[in-house]
Amino acid sequence: DIIYVLNGPNLNLLGQREPEIYGRQTLSDIEALCRAAAPDAEIVFRQSNHEGELVDWIHEARGKASALVINPAAFTHTSVALLDALKTLDIPVIECHLSNPAAREEFRRHSYVSLAATGVISGLGPHGYELAVRAALRLAQERAG
Ligand code: DQA
Repeated sequence: DIIYVLNGPNLNLLGQREPEIYGRQTLSDIEALCRAAAPDAEIVFRQSNHEGELVDWIHEARGKASALVINPAAFTHTSVALLDALKTLDIPVIECHLSNPAAREEFRRHSYVSLAATGVISGLGPHGYELAVRAALRLAQERAG
């Protein structure tokens, strides 16, 4: 199985960025957790600060990935383009957030991406990514029967 794990803007600065909210682990620490969580899967792990690049990677996942995990970061709350791209997929999509956006500012309470997500994991920090990758793989395998 190929699992795409896509990360949106500012997540390249994890470890330095608002550590009281996002913790001290870096994105490469999280990548290692994802790989360890699904050792038999091929994990395609990427980060971009650019909305269009994330859209392109979602298109690339079409016909290739068996599931997709995405932390769209700030684009969660703004991007109809990511929503529409995710709607073109016919594989399980897990939306993942390190923090719990529902417990933060009002503007974080709405997610466009959730409209296309099979499920959402929030507020569990890097562990949430491990859970998301495992859930993605499980859902993909259930589909394959
Ligand atoms: C985030 C939550 C978003 O609201 C925020 O813009 C981020 C990170 C999270 O992982 O908790 O950049 O997606």
